Amino acid sequence: MFDLSSIDSNDFANFYTDINDFVDGLFYDERDALANMSNLASLLYHTLGDVNWVGYYLLKSGELVLGPFQGKPACIRISIGKGVCGTAAQKRKTLRIPDVHQFDGHIACDGDTNAELVIPMIKNGVLLGVLDIDSKVKDRFSEEDQKALENIVDKLLEASEFEHVN
Ligand code: SME
Repeated sequence: MFDLSSIDSNDFANFYTDINDFVDGLFYDERDALANMSNLASLLYHTLGDVNWVGYYLLKSGELVLGPFQGKPACIRISIGKGVCGTAAQKRKTLRIPDVHQFDGHIACDGDTNAELVIPMIKNGVLLGVLDIDSKVKDRFSEEDQKALENIVDKLLEASEFEHVN
């Protein structure tokens, strides 16, 4: 069993070091993308603090389709260019949105969400999907969060075989 009790989201100095150590352990010797995505969603959901949804939308036949996640049931399909997720996928760029209600076209899957961080998953130049993290707290995600989580997505992509997922 994995023990998350040593990871403290209020310990800003060590949080991402601890998370990265944990991620390395989760991905060690396992290349199944669905398993690694699922464990990473759970790890982030239970440790980040102040997040109400963590999950993936995976690119399938030209649209984003809901993948493994933690949180309430969510919208299943998102067109490229729509919402925060579809826009991040289209631009192939992370979107860190302090207040989703100010984002034109935001898709409200969970009405409680106020801030959102969406990181595109691009491996060898191919867009595979996005990691989406939602918070009820406005301006929840800092630049440090963004960089650290982009780095963790890179680890996920490096560690996993996505051939049968998309
Ligand atoms: N809010 C997202 C939709 C996905 S849910 O937040 C899980 C968007 O605007 O793309």
